[in-house]
Amino acid sequence: MNLSNTKLDVDFVRSQFPAFNDSISKDWSFMENAGGSYVPKQVIKKLNEFMISTKVQPYAEYPMAKIAGENMDLATELFAKMINANSKEIIIGGSTSINLYVLSNALKYLIKPGDEIIVTNQDHEANISPWRRLSEVGAVIKEWKINPVTAELDFEQYEELISDKTKIVAVTHCSNIVGSVNNLKKISDLAHKKNAIVIGDGVSFAPHGFPNVKELGVDFYTFSLYKTYGPHIALMYGKEEILKILPNQNHEFLEGNYPYTINPGGPNHEELVSLLGIHRYMMDLYKHHFSDDNLSIREKISKLNNLISAHEEEIANPILDYIDKKENLRLIGKNKIHNKNRAPTISFTATNRLSKKISDILVSKNIATRNDNFYAWRCLKALGIDSDDGVVRLSLVHYNSSDDVNRLLDIFDKI
Ligand SMILES: Cc1ncc(COP(=O)(O)O)c(C=O)c1O
Repeated sequence: MNLSNTKLDVDFVRSQFPAFNDSISKDWSFMENAGGSYVPKQVIKKLNEFMISTKVQPYAEYPMAKIAGENMDLATELFAKMINANSKEIIIGGSTSINLYVLSNALKYLIKPGDEIIVTNQDHEANISPWRRLSEVGAVIKEWKINPVTAELDFEQYEELISDKTKIVAVTHCSNIVGSVNNLKKISDLAHKKNAIVIGDGVSFAPHGFPNVKELGVDFYTFSLYKTYGPHIALMYGKEEILKILPNQNHEFLEGNYPYTINPGGPNHEELVSLLGIHRYMMDLYKHHFSDDNLSIREKISKLNNLISAHEEEIANPILDYIDKKENLRLIGKNKIHNKNRAPTISFTATNRLSKKISDILVSKNIATRNDNFYAWRCLKALGIDSDDGVVRLSLVHYNSSDDVNRLLDIFDKI
């Protein structure tokens, strides 16, 4: 398949994920991907290989340790290439929450009383609390609030909030509730005119296509690898020139040894090596759909991103349309994906039923979903939604099929 109008071969995609043939999971339409995705067989293979042959302390001279270390370095290098960074800009930590807490502890030393920090009320708490906590060292916290009708962050409000005193802007690339994609490039350009640092949370964006961090222009960018088809770890990108000068958060003797300075405890070895499997999966996907092998890893990822977006748009738009038009349902965010302006992360509430009740019905019909605030409780509060009952969230990724969608719409029609 090499046509320029190539469509994603979903059967091929699904054949790469053992969960679709597993006795526990195979009969389910999985729509809780924003909580954590399935993993392809390439990841499981790399994890197994590491555990069988090289699960020793890496970087010694005997083969088991040498190969372990080489694979850890290679996984970091390949992931850096996939997002257009270099290896010294990649931190692999336990979770996005941990990575951002460590980063905030380091940036704390650059904050003087009266300096300003902009956080949103659209973000997951992981990209809010660590920054709000810097009020302890005198930072003034300013909140960029969503428009309560559209649930979006209006740029005009940001222009009013930012000032010469702004030191940090923490904003999500894509909300895990609203789904809208925020223009990080525009946000970063304005922040940089004020010499502020931008921290973009890409956790809800990256599963739909690994971003080009240099094009986004952000200073830091985080995403959770367990939502991008990997194990339960997370990646944080940081611009090398900033990482170089951040105060060491690791052992004293590691002073100057960035990016480890921002990665106390270091990465989980076997899980880091299993990331080789995500790269392999992406390259297998590329090879299945395209013939030009002379492109860089990043160029291949870009082509895959377009393929994935087109498929996601095709499967998610009928759901958005249905919820938007159904009288007793309230859709959060845009009612259509167009030109990657929205992720297929679809949240809604009902006027006549609790979210829990709707989620229970869907689960009883083999749609794997849930109701919650998904740690974006400030966003729900701003929208007047009870954060205990929360929203029902249907989050799709590229391995979801039109069969999944038809099954869902059929059930919707009956409730
Ligand atoms: C948008 C967003 N940001 C941050 C996080 C936190 O990620 P982690 O679980 O890796 O700490 C999540 C987790 O659900 C999320 O959805």
